[in-house]
Amino acid sequence: MFGFLKKMWRINTGLCLVCGSILILLTIALRFTSLNCYQRDGREIIDLTTADCRDYYYKTLNLSASGKKNCTKIIEGDWDEVRQTLIENLEVKKRRVVASDKDYIELAKDCATFKTVRKYITFSLNTEEANYPIAYSMVVHGDIESFERLLRSIYSPQNIYCVHVDAKSPDTFHQAVRAIVSCFDNVFVASKLESVVYASWSRVQADLNCMEDLLNSTVQWKYLINTCGTDFPLKTNAEMVKTLKSLNGKSSMESEAPPANKKFRWLNHFEIKKRIEKTDIKKSPPPVNIKIFSGNAYIVVTRDFVRAVFETSFAKEFMEWAKDTYSPDEFLWSSLHRVPWMPGSVPQHIKFDTSDMNAVARLVKWRFLEGDPQHGAPYSSCTGMHRRDVCIYGTGDLHWLLQQHHLFANKFNPKVDDHALQCLEEHLRFKSFYRKIM
Ligand SMILES: *[C@@H]1O[C@H](CO)[C@@H](O)[C@H](O)[C@H]1NC(C)=O
Ligand SMILES: *[C@@H]1O[C@H](CO)[C@@H](O)[C@H](O)[C@H]1NC(C)=O
Ligand SMILES: *[C@@H]1O[C@H](CO)[C@@H](O)[C@H](O)[C@H]1NC(C)=O
Repeated sequence: MFGFLKKMWRINTGLCLVCGSILILLTIALRFTSLNCYQRDGREIIDLTTADCRDYYYKTLNLSASGKKNCTKIIEGDWDEVRQTLIENLEVKKRRVVASDKDYIELAKDCATFKTVRKYITFSLNTEEANYPIAYSMVVHGDIESFERLLRSIYSPQNIYCVHVDAKSPDTFHQAVRAIVSCFDNVFVASKLESVVYASWSRVQADLNCMEDLLNSTVQWKYLINTCGTDFPLKTNAEMVKTLKSLNGKSSMESEAPPANKKFRWLNHFEIKKRIEKTDIKKSPPPVNIKIFSGNAYIVVTRDFVRAVFETSFAKEFMEWAKDTYSPDEFLWSSLHRVPWMPGSVPQHIKFDTSDMNAVARLVKWRFLEGDPQHGAPYSSCTGMHRRDVCIYGTGDLHWLLQQHHLFANKFNPKVDDHALQCLEEHLRFKSFYRKIM
């Protein structure tokens, strides 16, 4: 009897040992899998539905702002915090020196280090984003740090990015862009580079060169967004996907009846020398009865719209006609957007006119419209400074900017207000990891 019990005991201890080891192994395995956040579907997607995964990745990939400022307070509109930060902008000694072409050429020599140091998110954050690639045309001519921070803030591995560098930009700038671009499979420099003359056709051609390359890429993007070096996003990639889906196959851009003071732009033939110059030669009206609508250079358009720009004879004729006008970028897209046979377009009736404030493409503060919203102005005064009558945003504009529906805002400049950019970076990165929107 005793012997039997002893045997049982031995068996039991043996069993317990086995059970115990299995339990320990299971716990280790569970811990391991809970931090193995990769979803298994062949692509690099990180599953952020578990708190452990979010915290783990955010710890290494956060873009927390430097210095004493509290971005949460700034974004909430805490005026004391804003005022202190704006005062800091005035203290020249405290200003950070922006990174140079050489800095980036050096850093991007080792792509793995570059991506780690600059904290790129190199995986998709969920399946819905992974399945909805966006195409970007980025037209830049200088200020490498602004370009790189813009790229980092909109970068996601399923998207595709074409960068048009002004042919007349300095060699070192070209080298720096190419060094950065060489670190990513889905970022490339346009196959044809224009020398861009302000307000001339070449500005449109730069975007067209990227559009053609993007159509030829194998990525099946749904929408194209064009940007420049002074743009910055107001939304995360997930929010952009959500907005684009809600457009339901329509494009979104400013497109309104042209004001009288802009009509000179297409009534005469303009000549491009070093700058664009007006001549006395009258132009014929636009071909195929296209009606001119006024807008701006920044658009959100469907893939079918972009394809039609290249493939329909009407669009080609219209573009040929527009080549010797003043600032065709500010009426070409907005007019094509109202042509009934263009995919994603809207009717010409005035009820379909869309102001820049109502389109999602770009948020801009014009100096002559700034004022007191309580007394009818569309927005309050710029807290940064102005260039060509456009606000370069300051820290005090963030609270308002982040309440708007626009995907991007223009202009930002780290030399004017780096705190504003840093807080946007911190905010968007936090939201990418922690805000559930889909
Ligand atoms: C942000 O990243 C840094 C490393 O760059 C890390 O030391 C810090 O703990 C992170 N902050 C948060 C809130 O995760
Ligand atoms: C920043 O401000 C927010 C809101 O007032 C507060 O909750 C948070 O603790 C502050 N953060 C720091 C680091 O002081
Ligand atoms: C794009 O592809 C078309 C046809 O496949 C080709 O004719 C065209 O040259 C290509 N364009 C560029 C910019 O590579």
